[in-house]
Order: sequence, then C-alpha cells, then structure tokens
Amino acid sequence: KANPKPLVSEGEDKSPASPSYSNNTTKLSSDNWTFNRSLSNLIRKNILRFFDPERDISILKGTLKPGDVIHYIFDRQSTTNISENLYRLLPTVSPMKNQHHRHCAIVGNSGILLNSSCGPEIDSYDFVIRCNLAPVEEYAGDVGRRTNLVTMNPSVVQRAFQDLASEEWRERFLQRLRGLSGSVLWIPAFMAKGGEERVEWAIRLILLHTVDVHTAFPSLRLLHAVRGYWLTNNVQIKRPTTGLLMYTMATRFCEEIHLYGFWPFPQDSQGKPVKYHYYDTLTYTYTSHASPHTMPLEFRTLSSLHRQGALRLHTGSCD
Ligand code: CTP
Repeated sequence: KANPKPLVSEGEDKSPASPSYSNNTTKLSSDNWTFNRSLSNLIRKNILRFFDPERDISILKGTLKPGDVIHYIFDRQSTTNISENLYRLLPTVSPMKNQHHRHCAIVGNSGILLNSSCGPEIDSYDFVIRCNLAPVEEYAGDVGRRTNLVTMNPSVVQRAFQDLASEEWRERFLQRLRGLSGSVLWIPAFMAKGGEERVEWAIRLILLHTVDVHTAFPSLRLLHAVRGYWLTNNVQIKRPTTGLLMYTMATRFCEEIHLYGFWPFPQDSQGKPVKYHYYDTLTYTYTSHASPHTMPLEFRTLSSLHRQGALRLHTGSCD
C-alpha cells in the first residue's frame, strides 16, 4: 500500500499556504496522501529561522575544551564538566554536513509497529532515523534494520542496558552499537541532570572498543530553538519528545519525511490494545504521570501536517 518511492512528480504541488497546526482530530487518511512539496519547503525555511539543524545537531570540538562547565538545559542551576573522553568523541565537523536525502523515515517506538510488516518498506528509504537505541534484529520484519542515525537518551543506558553493570550487559550494549556501523549516534547528554555517569560509561566503552559510530551531542541551544519554533506556531510543547526533535531536524536534510511508530495511544483505530513501546514493558502511565512529554498534542500536530501533505504518518500495516 504505502510506497516510499516518488509519490508526486515535480510541479504537482498544492499551493504554498502556511501550515496549519491546529486541527483537533487524530483521524488519518493515507489512501489519497500526496506530498506537498511547497509546504514542506516553507516549513524548512521557517525552522531555519530558529536554528540550523546541520550545525545544532552537535557541539563541535573547536567550540569548547575538556573541563568546560555546562549548565543543564532543563536544570539550569546544575552543571557538569566536559570530560576528556566526551571531548574525544565530539565531531570536528557536523556529521550531517552536506547531507540531503529524498526520502527519509523516522521510526518512533510505539507498539503500533508490531505486526505491521513495515520492515522492508522502512529499509527502502534513503535515510532512516531511529530513537533511543530501540532494538531492530528481533523485530526486523516490522521495524526494519537500516539505521543512519539513532538517538540515545542517557536514561536508555539504565532502562535498556541495566546501567552496563555486568559484562553481559556491556556486551549487549556493544552488540547493539556494532550493528550501527557508520551511523550517527546522537546523545543528548546535557538536557537533564542525572545522566552524566551513564553517558561516561557508554562513551568509555565506545572508545575502548573503537566502535564505528559518528557520535553527536546536540548543541545547548537546540531544544530552546525547537520549542521556540513550535510555540511560534501555537503548539505549546514544554519538552519536545525525541521523535518531534528528529522530525524538526530532519526537515533540513530530507525532502519527503515519513513517520512510522508514532502512536501514543493505548488502542489502535479498531480498539485493539497497543503497547507503549514495541520492545519493552513500559506502559502508558509512564507518559501520563512520570514523563514531561505531551505526546498526544504532538501527534495531533503531526496529523495535521500529514493531512496537509507536509509529512506522512504511517499508522497501519504495510502489507
Ligand atoms: N512515540 C510515539 N508513541 C509511543 C511511543 C513513542 O509516538 N507510544 C514516539 C515519540 O515521538 C517518541 C519516539 O517515538 O519520542 C521515541 O520513543 P521513546 O524512546 O519512548 O522516546 P522519548 O519518550 O522521547 O524518550 P524518553 O522516554 O527517554 O523521554
């Protein structure tokens, strides 16, 4: 059904109206979706007024030195220091420099992906972004394997790899990273305090085993800029999720953006239960109480952009 290859040819665009973000329904129609190139170009241009994802995707080596003090973005009164090891893993140029792709997939972690058979379709994109080192091998038929960029919140080290406390977990972590060969590993190390040790353990393993990944550490202004962009468009998001951060940044590198695994609801459109993550046992209470995210609001916003053809949300099965 859903074919990521060319959906419209040049010149078939709809009119370049401003995007509307304020539709309240989450109903999606996918049968008659066509790419709205001019709207997507306009969104890219507007986002570039707030920040440049090519630059802000990572702090670069030249801009600071080991020992420098960093204030956490969400906990301004708390600080950390740039360690020698973290400094060694800072890129010297943006890992996304001059990268432009026609068709990109961003894969969120919702259980909606289970039994979707979307793996081969996802693997056929030019560039695939994934979130929080979500496992792929065991779920390849539904989520694919290809990964060009993957994020790793410090909390993942604890939640998915038991704080790397034993040889077995360290090996599992390394195994996951080895599967990434050559991809960008995006580590938001300075968002919230509490994760510094976890980042250090992960970094030490990467250096020790010379894992073939391009590490990136988002600039300190990225989050405010992303929030600023959405606020200016009347979308009040306090803490954008990883998925929304990735969409906002991908507009810079990708022409057509397709989202999979974005479904922050405990039931599908037929009322069948949907897991919070496709790969673990976290439940939706996690988002409603403990998490600072507003995923359903984000989803409504993305749905609205889907209806206008600026992006495509895939929430059904692919076979
Ligand atoms: N997502 C979704 N519906 C879900 C789960 C996830 O739409 N049921 C999307 C969100 O955009 C999310 C992304 O998939 O950011 C990746 O999922 P996850 O790893 O849970 O990301 P975060 O919630 O941002 O990470 P954290 O819990 O560490 O803050």
